[in-house]
Amino acid sequence: MKVIIINGPNLNLLGVREPGIYGKESMETYLQQLRKDYPNVEIEYYQSNIEGELINKLQEVGFAYDGIILNAGAYTHTSIALLDCIRSLQTPVIEVHISNVNDREEFRRHSMIAPACKGTIQGFGMNSYRLAIEAFLL
Ligand code: DQA
Repeated sequence: MKVIIINGPNLNLLGVREPGIYGKESMETYLQQLRKDYPNVEIEYYQSNIEGELINKLQEVGFAYDGIILNAGAYTHTSIALLDCIRSLQTPVIEVHISNVNDREEFRRHSMIAPACKGTIQGFGMNSYRLAIEAFLL
């Protein structure tokens, strides 16, 4: 089983960015634990702040991997290009959010990409990523 976690804009600042919302743990530390907990799952990681780079990566992995776990950050709420991209792929994509986007500003309630994704996991802190791996293992 080979999955990739793809994080979008500002998620390189996890652990530093708004810790009251996103927690104090860096993605690197969290990933170490995740890889230990799922020795039979190959977990790749990619982050970019740039929409086109996210699309390039999705296209690169989207015909070869077993699953894509995508936290598109704020592009979730705006990007038709990401929606089109996800629709073009063979690999299923799970949309993930660390925070509960329904309990925040109104503009975060709409996801452009949700219709193209297999499902959405949100609001469980960093463990939203873990739950997405569990979902791929079902
Ligand atoms: C986020 C929620 C988005 O609304 C926000 O723009 C982010 C992070 C989350 O993981 O909770 O950058 O995707």
